[in-house]
Amino acid sequence: MNRVDIVDVISDFVSLKKSGQNYKALSPFNNEKTASFFVVPAKGLFKDFSSGKGGSAVTFVMEHEGMSYPEAIRYLAKKYGVEIKEDASTAEAQEKQSEREGLYILMNFAKDYYHHNLFHTDEGKGIGLSYFRERGFNDRTIQKFELGYALEGWSNLMDEAIRKNYNKELLEKTGLVVKSEGDRVYDRFRGRVIFPVHNMTGKVIAFGARMMGKEKNQPKYINSPETEIYHKSNVLYGLFQGKNAIRQHDTCFLVEGYTDVLSMHQADVENVVASSGTALTEEQIKLIRRFTENVTVLFDGDAAGIKAALRGIDLILKGGLNVRVVLLPDGEDPDSYSRKVGTTEFQKYLSTKAQDFISFKSGLFAREAGNDPIRKAESIKEIVSSIALIPDPVKRSVYLQETSQQLKIGESVLLVELNKLLMQERRRREREQVQSAVPPEFDANLEQIQAPAVQVVDPGDMVYYQERETIRLLINYADKTLEDQQVAEYLLHELEDVQFSNHTFREIHDEFALQLRKGTVPDSKYFLEHGSPEVQKVVTDLITRRYETSPHWKEKYHIYFPHEEEILKDVALSNVLRLKFRVVQKMKEDNLTKIQTSEQNGNWDEVEKCLVHQAGLIDAERELADMLGIVVAR
Ligand code: CTP
Ligand code: MN
Repeated sequence: MNRVDIVDVISDFVSLKKSGQNYKALSPFNNEKTASFFVVPAKGLFKDFSSGKGGSAVTFVMEHEGMSYPEAIRYLAKKYGVEIKEDASTAEAQEKQSEREGLYILMNFAKDYYHHNLFHTDEGKGIGLSYFRERGFNDRTIQKFELGYALEGWSNLMDEAIRKNYNKELLEKTGLVVKSEGDRVYDRFRGRVIFPVHNMTGKVIAFGARMMGKEKNQPKYINSPETEIYHKSNVLYGLFQGKNAIRQHDTCFLVEGYTDVLSMHQADVENVVASSGTALTEEQIKLIRRFTENVTVLFDGDAAGIKAALRGIDLILKGGLNVRVVLLPDGEDPDSYSRKVGTTEFQKYLSTKAQDFISFKSGLFAREAGNDPIRKAESIKEIVSSIALIPDPVKRSVYLQETSQQLKIGESVLLVELNKLLMQERRRREREQVQSAVPPEFDANLEQIQAPAVQVVDPGDMVYYQERETIRLLINYADKTLEDQQVAEYLLHELEDVQFSNHTFREIHDEFALQLRKGTVPDSKYFLEHGSPEVQKVVTDLITRRYETSPHWKEKYHIYFPHEEEILKDVALSNVLRLKFRVVQKMKEDNLTKIQTSEQNGNWDEVEKCLVHQAGLIDAERELADMLGIVVAR
């Protein structure tokens, strides 16, 4: 764990931006518009406020990659070159999770085997390699994408796997071999060039195999089936090789095929992924969103390409991403066109021909509509219907303005149209919700038009926040000194007679008391190592500073915010007073309820006792309020 650098670990998956001492980013776990994902390198922790997830680098890898604890540990050990010795006695437990590991290992073996064929067998060199060469793929590209070749014949791969003592049953589970009805087992990929599909950490999880000749009655590609480690809808080809470039350029090109990705890399455009010939899924959009919010789709300029572009645009907008479109000349795909015009021209084409979706759509319809007013109205509706899909209301209004300018049409007219669509969508969702009672994935539109919920604060909540604040001070400043005593001593002493109502806070409080009696002061690290899962979560929450004052305040306006540590004494004192104040308020409220029920039951002795108690509580409340400078209504 000492070797692990949490920023380094998380950066493999998320594009982090420095923010003071810490880092932040858009949550990789949720669709969100403002960054609420924080990494605190000094503590080795991350915290995602939108999903509530938080913890160490291990927790992150587990959550993000869907790994078990041992898988995550193995992953990190490998990343940092640390050897781990595994205890054989846990064999049974290992076997279960090792199935996934086993699949990865077999896929890796197959990848190496196919790759070896390509360079070291006559058939591979003569057929596979020369095919790639003919298509203009250089060695660098072949190595980067680990391309390979599957030999002709029914059992080359299977025989090699058995020779190397790989498990036969597991081999079937990889989908590398197929079992026929007559229980005959044979290689799935034969006499084809191989494109390995990698997951985001670079492990091979599937293969696409392309035929080279022009045999009819044969599909152009044969692909791996879905397995324990391969879910087609959750994978983007090229993401592993392109993720850093996507982060750097803050934009991602979206193409259709394997060969498009390869050719674009060769034209020095590495921020590219392929949907592999299917319509983009929500999960794939979320994958892109981990690295950038900007997608540029590349399509063939023919009728089919335009139709596909229109569908893609709407899906991407719905996923909350910004979308631009590049239409290639008729009949060209990125692969053919980049090779035809060369790197410089191709790059120039991408940068000059990219249009936002409004110009793309309006251009398209303008060509069709001409001066026909009815057709023009239709095209406006078309554009507004795309805008209505955007979850973020701010973005929606920006695009509305843009449309108003481009189409020279009043913004209010567009707004009426937009609201009409949003209302329709809302009603549709309401009907759907009644029918299914399952909340829809993208319900941000609905949220926007619903009245905001009125927040009712009750004293119980206030006690909670104040208890939380006390624990926060303990966790962060326990060992700091206030005049002649430590913060922990001071707080615990002052709050001796206060019973924490939240059990996790109480657990932390009691542990502090115990340790202090032993003469040690625990810190956040102590709780992260020894606390229960709830304690760990609370502690993570409390040591991550969500809001930091912008340095601009100081630079621009000469307004200085003291750091909390500098005014710790005031903070600690007022916290103690506030907590007591809230506790007294809560007691008052509870006592009042007791008076009411005692009255109803005719228990007059109890009523009198409670009234005396209430008077005492009111006095205490006033005294505390005076000290805090709060005026309580009399
Ligand atoms: N595809 C597939 N099965 C097919 C055809 C296509 O899985 N029978 C997927 C592949 O992922 C392919 C993508 O759809 O990469 C795009 O299809 P296409 O443009 O036909 O393939 P390319 O890879 O571009 O191949 P090429 O340029 O060699 O024709
Ligand atoms: Mn193609």
